Amino acid sequence: MKILSTREMLKKAQREGYAIPAFNIHNLETLQVVVDTAAELRSPVILAGTPSTIAYAGGEYIVAMAETAAKEYDIPIAIHLDHYEDVEAIKHFIDLGFKSAMIDASHLDYEDNIRIVREVVEYAHKFDATVEAELGRLGGQEDDLIVDEKDSKYTNPEQARDFVERTGIDSLAVAIGTAHGLYQGEAKLDFDRLKEIRDMVDVPLVLHGASDVPDELVKKAISLGICKVNVATDLKIPFSDAVKKYFNENPTANDPRKYMTPGKEAMKKIVAHKIMVCGSNGKA
Ligand code: 13P
Repeated sequence: MKILSTREMLKKAQREGYAIPAFNIHNLETLQVVVDTAAELRSPVILAGTPSTIAYAGGEYIVAMAETAAKEYDIPIAIHLDHYEDVEAIKHFIDLGFKSAMIDASHLDYEDNIRIVREVVEYAHKFDATVEAELGRLGGQEDDLIVDEKDSKYTNPEQARDFVERTGIDSLAVAIGTAHGLYQGEAKLDFDRLKEIRDMVDVPLVLHGASDVPDELVKKAISLGICKVNVATDLKIPFSDAVKKYFNENPTANDPRKYMTPGKEAMKKIVAHKIMVCGSNGKA
């Protein structure tokens, strides 16, 4: 298969009532874990990279690695630009082969958010790429993007309808109580708000900040219309804990093939678990 946009995979998930997991990857190892596990479980999958990840790993390397995976495995694979604020950067990476992007202008005022998102949509659609945008704002930390709790804002359902109509986006990231990273206390999701948003718009809805949220709450969100579930922190922690453990037990180790392997194995379990929570297994 080729690298796909998220259009068909999200529409199918929306019709059939499951979600596509979007896993944040950072390098060859994390990308391998995600695609190998998704292929084993026959799940469509989205590989997401934030601006700092793409700067770290290199956009061309990510495209080349994802293309290799797409040739190897007969499952739908998309690569997605996550939380991009820079319109020119998005255009550049679409030219490079990314077929899906989130333009995050949620920090701007409403009309500016619409104007910038619209510009990205017009460009992306010429290349058959899909666009996600956020209305409202999640708190917490995603790579280098830090949003203070006091600056977070829930999605307004009425405004969501206007936003989707005027921007022409393919999917909408909603702020209903999740946050990026780990929670202080328990995650509380505003399901009534999610229902209202679902009634107002027809595009697939996206749940950011799904790490550290109990499985039942993620499943309930999916049953109420979430079609894409973003996971980053829950993968980073087991990977790095397993590598730390390996070095504790083997202080003189220096072979990346050895010390990366336990990290990959630990991450794989979580990737498999999240796919099952999303219900995307067997849907490829
Ligand atoms: P978590 O790190 O909380 O899983 O958030 C991931 C995310 O929303 C990526 O956009």
